[in-house]
Amino acid sequence: MLAETVLEPGDELPYGWPSFSTYEFMANLMRARSVQVPLKDFTFDLDAIAEAVTPKTKMVIICNPNNPTGTVVDAASVERFLDRMRDEVLVVLDEAYAEYVHDFDYPDSRKLILEGRNVISLRTFSKAYGLAGARIGYSVARPALTEAVNKVRQPFNVSSIAQAGALAALADQEHLRASVQFADRGRAQLYEAFAVMGLAYVPSWTNFVLVDIGIDAACAFEELLRRGVIVRPQTACGLLPTHLRVTVGTARRTGRSSGHSRTCSRRRGRGSALHGARRTLYAPNHGLLRAYQALDVRSEYRLPQGEAGVEVVVVGSEFGLQGEALKHG
Ligand SMILES: Cc1ncc(COP(=O)(O)O)c(C=O)c1O
Repeated sequence: MLAETVLEPGDELPYGWPSFSTYEFMANLMRARSVQVPLKDFTFDLDAIAEAVTPKTKMVIICNPNNPTGTVVDAASVERFLDRMRDEVLVVLDEAYAEYVHDFDYPDSRKLILEGRNVISLRTFSKAYGLAGARIGYSVARPALTEAVNKVRQPFNVSSIAQAGALAALADQEHLRASVQFADRGRAQLYEAFAVMGLAYVPSWTNFVLVDIGIDAACAFEELLRRGVIVRPQTACGLLPTHLRVTVGTARRTGRSSGHSRTCSRRRGRGSALHGARRTLYAPNHGLLRAYQALDVRSEYRLPQGEAGVEVVVVGSEFGLQGEALKHG
């Protein structure tokens, strides 16, 4: 709706890249040109985006936190960026994951709008509020812009059931707090597992973590899918061929750090600094164990006997796992 309201054929739409794929669709829909500005340290590079603004720019997008990297830009950086914008350029703050951010100097988009900045904040109930299927979100902007967006909005585009759910979600701050804490704990679990596996990850302020698995992410995705684990490869953006975006699941699914340990004798490919290293993995359940197996298929994994009578030995080679023995006790 925002693209239809603001963009015209031939306009330019700058935004950081990799980011949310919909921005490209928005530009295409209006026959505008996407200007994808590379991220810096996996974070929106606001200086570079400011430099990408031309007389053909009517709107720029800042995804904060960014999907798929989970990184954030702070209030001072956004204010400096806004100082560099012409008044006519609308700055879209896509704050879909804002509720997950805490203990950080996060931009106050409402304050910016009240100060007269040409800003719109986009929020959704799909993430921290957990209402993805209800298809409801909202924007905060100055009244004239909201009025213009309303002109392209289809009547009754949000159901009354979704609105009732959203109002209930807003009233239930306890649930929101629990959801944010859940993501905090899940990220910590993932960081720990990735660190143990020697995988580089991007510290995130969302409910997912971007991790570099060092092997073809599209193949790893297929292999994980076969094992009942859904992650998101980032190959489509063309810049992250070995990265997966892993979303926080329940503690059981993400892997529980409860004092068990796993021994993993790693045999990584030639040239790997970890070649031949032995490591201890902490307490993955079967779901995470399977994820490990697919993420690092050259390794041998052993779960010690005794835990519910389970023993799993998998020796993988490339993506055709060989010698797999999976016994559930
Ligand atoms: C950055 C970003 N913005 C907006 C959305 C849209 O959320 P929804 O359409 O579910 O409200 C998403 C969903 O993945 C997102 O990642």
